[in-house]
Amino acid sequence: MAKDLPVVLMGLDPGTSKNAVVIALVYKGSLELVGVGESPSVGIHKGVIDNPALTAKSVKQALEKAEKMAGIRVGRVSVSYCSANIEVLNSPGGLTLTGQLGSRSGKERPAVDPALAAVPPGRRIIKRLPAPLTRTVPGLEQNCDRIVTAPSEDIANLIECARLAGLAVQEVVYSPLASSYALLTPAEKELGTILIDIGSGITSVSIFNRGLLRETAVLPLGGEHLVGDLAIGLSMSLTRAVEILREYKPEDEEAPGGNDDGAGNGVCVAVKSKNTRDLVRSIIEARLTEIFTLAGEVIRGFDYPGLLPGGVVIHGGVSQLSGLSCVAEKILQIPVRIGQLQNPGPALKPAFANALGLVKYRFSRLPGEKKVSRNRQEQKEGFVGRVFNWLEDRNKR
Ligand SMILES: Nc1ncnc2c1ncn2[C@@H]1O[C@H](COP(=O)(O)OP(=O)(O)OP(=O)(O)O)[C@@H](O)[C@H]1O
Ligand SMILES: [Mg+2]
Repeated sequence: MAKDLPVVLMGLDPGTSKNAVVIALVYKGSLELVGVGESPSVGIHKGVIDNPALTAKSVKQALEKAEKMAGIRVGRVSVSYCSANIEVLNSPGGLTLTGQLGSRSGKERPAVDPALAAVPPGRRIIKRLPAPLTRTVPGLEQNCDRIVTAPSEDIANLIECARLAGLAVQEVVYSPLASSYALLTPAEKELGTILIDIGSGITSVSIFNRGLLRETAVLPLGGEHLVGDLAIGLSMSLTRAVEILREYKPEDEEAPGGNDDGAGNGVCVAVKSKNTRDLVRSIIEARLTEIFTLAGEVIRGFDYPGLLPGGVVIHGGVSQLSGLSCVAEKILQIPVRIGQLQNPGPALKPAFANALGLVKYRFSRLPGEKKVSRNRQEQKEGFVGRVFNWLEDRNKR
């Protein structure tokens, strides 16, 4: 009887501060995580790879960790991209009549893809957005109304970096789309939710509704600004500023007994004097206020007509900052939750959101026959076959 052969999926998220890799196997139609790896990234500025050779070396470290854990070598990868260089453009035309008002087949499409004609030289499409809901008239459907574009050079550097790390890029996926597969439930995506990713160099703000990415924008702000502010404000090294940021707790979260000598928790451990603790708090709150005020302006600027009952889901490294959701809620005036990874198997660190989302996104698009295929003899041959056998033996135990 024919049995399943696992399909190997890998997601790579080369971020401004870290590279994250997730390897998963599709086994009997379900996804099983088998390897994860993380490494500090080098040569990436606000999500853009400046020096592919340098970045490839750091990507290799994360890749080798994930491959070692999985016990397999992987050659093909889905890669996420997001940077302050993205632009959302309107594609002129693209108006297609469908259904009763349209052609007999109802499937008429313009001869030339108007979205391609709208792409400026030196840029390429990384995601197509559906028409804004306000402009959709029943029976009259706007085709590829808007496009998310990135500089071609950014994407070329991303592909070159992967190649130098020994990987062939299967697809480049816009990061907020990828991470939505790891963080949002189908119901949240269907009913309407805002996803905010606060990383090291950038913050993306995206709206999902009726199951699709509807609006998106990227701000050139993130954790590196918080770290820089602390380093300058307290005249200390960046390394020390990172430590303080990670240990930070707003006053009302400090343990009882925290005092001026630094005997309490969180920021008290890292910073001895009360005056300095107050300074840390004011520096962090000022930068968070700026980030969420700008995010609020972006959300209002979308002028999104639908209701967004899913509220705001925040992720990215900075989302781990204590008290962040309170500040966000106060400024945005929308219910906020911190994103939790929805992954099969043991819990993953939030840093793996994009990489996990990439494999889940890829999995969602695998044709049925790829999820279940080939016979037992084929499985025994080759490396993936041995992985299959190992999985099968383990499941029997
Ligand atoms: N526990 C923590 N509390 C507060 N900030 C944190 C914590 N852990 C990490 N950070 C900050 O999160 C940032 C890294 O986040 P993340 O890993 O999402 O970035 P990235 O994906 O590498 O960058 P980008 O998405 O901007 O390209 C850093 O600025 C780091 O200082
Ligand atoms: Mg990121």
